[in-house]
Amino acid sequence: MTNTESPSTDTTGLGEIVRDAERVSVDDKAMINARADVNQLLPLKYHWAWEKYLAGCNNHWMPTEVSMQADIALWKSPNGLTDDERRLIKRNLGFFATSESLVANNIVLAVYRHLTNPECRQYLLRQAFEEAVHTHTFQYICESLGLDEGELFNMYREVPSITDKAAWALNYTQNLEDPEFRTGTHEADQAFLRDLVAFYVIFEGMWFYTGFAQILSLGRQHKMIGIAEQYQYILRDESIHLNFGIDAINQIKIENPHLWSEEFQEEVRGMLREACDLEVAYGRDTMPRGILGINAESCEQYMHFITNRRCAQLGLEPVFPETDNPFPWMSEMMDLTKEKNFFETRVTEYQSGAALDWD
Ligand SMILES: [Fe+2]
Ligand SMILES: [Fe+2]
Repeated sequence: MTNTESPSTDTTGLGEIVRDAERVSVDDKAMINARADVNQLLPLKYHWAWEKYLAGCNNHWMPTEVSMQADIALWKSPNGLTDDERRLIKRNLGFFATSESLVANNIVLAVYRHLTNPECRQYLLRQAFEEAVHTHTFQYICESLGLDEGELFNMYREVPSITDKAAWALNYTQNLEDPEFRTGTHEADQAFLRDLVAFYVIFEGMWFYTGFAQILSLGRQHKMIGIAEQYQYILRDESIHLNFGIDAINQIKIENPHLWSEEFQEEVRGMLREACDLEVAYGRDTMPRGILGINAESCEQYMHFITNRRCAQLGLEPVFPETDNPFPWMSEMMDLTKEKNFFETRVTEYQSGAALDWD
């Protein structure tokens, strides 16, 4: 007897093996609610996911490869940085230190289970490792500069402008990591899409970008160049994470057009607008007076620019009037194919080919 059901009895890939099931065909593979066995990578269906896995592997780096000597000297020198610069650096590090873990936990404990495609899961495994490398970066910075680890790693609970962002995003993942949660209904599938928007498009694709701009702006003035170099590598990784998320959402839309209703599109635009407001508040909190090259107003304009760009990537109408990018140098920061990295602290030979046009 031939069984046309999935070779495994569930979408996790850990169900009982169905011995007489038919072989997987590409047409059976789907982003969500797939019937095809999730343990079989081949035949590939979504080449964009596989290519991002390869690009991530080609971008491998470790934070400990970057010298922190200049940063340590500047941080310890009493007149090396202004009080405003120190506040900005600490709050920026505090935001990222736990955000990388929040993103990793969302991937591993919420998204992975419900994304029923093996090439996408292959990418998620690579991404999860990269988030571990990013968290390692903040451990390494904390240790190198001798920062108060309790202060840094509790900022997401103790600094309201950071807490507000983390709490907002957690609303979307808590739903999915409920052990009873299953995709397969209209409501549940939309909840899954909301999580992808909240974490990939907003957390990694909007909020991280102000954080990168802040530190890279300091780096352009040759301040904290070790951290700035590490942020360049994180930015390169994150640009692929973001683009994976955008591709995943758009593919789910193609396969399930009923989920992307007018009403749902308006809801997503509302999410992006709210997220932008939270980021503007964070910008004012971290830069109450501004520092050379960057301030709360330019960050607000940047966030409007980025929000509209994310809308376009998702096929949504823009949320804000058209605006210019106040930090055009940010795209240059993503290009690590040059013979040296931007801050010229050392020669790097990491293969790229991944980053440039994925902003
Ligand atoms: Fe990350
Ligand atoms: Fe990420």
